[in-house]
Amino acid sequence: MMKEYINEKIIEIENALKLMFNKRHGSIRDEFNEILYYPISAGGKRIRPILTILSCQLFDDDYKNAIIPSIALELIHTYSLIHDDLPAMDNDSMRRGLPTTHIKYGEANAILAGDGLLTQAFEILSTADVDNDILRKLLFELSYAAGTDGMVYGQYIDLYYEKKPMDFEMLKLLHSKKTAALIRCACRMGAIISKANEKDLASITEYGECIGLTFQIQDDILDYIADEKELGKTVGKDAKNDKLTYVKQFGLDGAKEQASIVTEKAILAIKKIETKNTDKINILIELAKYIIERGN
Ligand code: IPE
Ligand code: IPE
Ligand code: MG
Ligand code: MG
Ligand code: MG
Repeated sequence: MMKEYINEKIIEIENALKLMFNKRHGSIRDEFNEILYYPISAGGKRIRPILTILSCQLFDDDYKNAIIPSIALELIHTYSLIHDDLPAMDNDSMRRGLPTTHIKYGEANAILAGDGLLTQAFEILSTADVDNDILRKLLFELSYAAGTDGMVYGQYIDLYYEKKPMDFEMLKLLHSKKTAALIRCACRMGAIISKANEKDLASITEYGECIGLTFQIQDDILDYIADEKELGKTVGKDAKNDKLTYVKQFGLDGAKEQASIVTEKAILAIKKIETKNTDKINILIELAKYIIERGN
């Protein structure tokens, strides 16, 4: 059920992204557009936009007004990857199965592409077809999750703790900020669009926080064990850069065990939600399991 659902939604997400970047400007702007679209068209799992759409559908069958916010989030996620790969950060050469943006177009252009996608995300979010009070909430959610108390702060901690002794509290904070912030935001935005009540919003937030954490634990595991081709990015980078990861803290089996425990917490949280759309609850449960079983 989950596979069909995801395949169907990915088509809509890809189409919306294509539409946004297909616009021709008839100038040097088209060349910049090509750089902006390069890392987006490379693919990716689109987990975050899918979560926004799914969370919206928990409470409202009509999810069309969740598409624009979901795309805005994917632009921010993609910008975070471009900058994460830069020589000054993780210095990575492969992303989504292709050379990273700075390898293909040069460092300055990769910085600008990241800046551009980040800003464009808010430009398109401002056009979402939702009431003004909801739009204000979405603007807060997205900027908070992406910014100096969210993903960007997580990236700061990530770099700060390279080659430093292990600190478990810091590791949890790091994963919560650098990765869970955007995933939790994806869930919250969908539920806000479909006007979930406070109790259900709290449950979907807890679910998002938990799968956000397991998402990064699995990312750490895959960096350790995965096949480079299947993963679409270089492996063994965390050990090389001596990053703070669950594998460093607990070893491979310990990291897997932690991920299972947190997945159970996510499932408990999502089961608390009261909705007639139980099929969507089931997909979210499947998705939580997929996150720790995935190979890319
Ligand atoms: C990679 O995210 C960066 C992390 C936060 C772990 P994804 O694994 O979702 O990357 P794509 O979007 O599928 O390429
Ligand atoms: C990155 O974590 C999280 C981001 C905010 C981009 P990683 O550095 O582990 O992500 P990958 O492995 O390069 O995708
Ligand atoms: Mg990184
Ligand atoms: Mg990285
Ligand atoms: Mg990683």
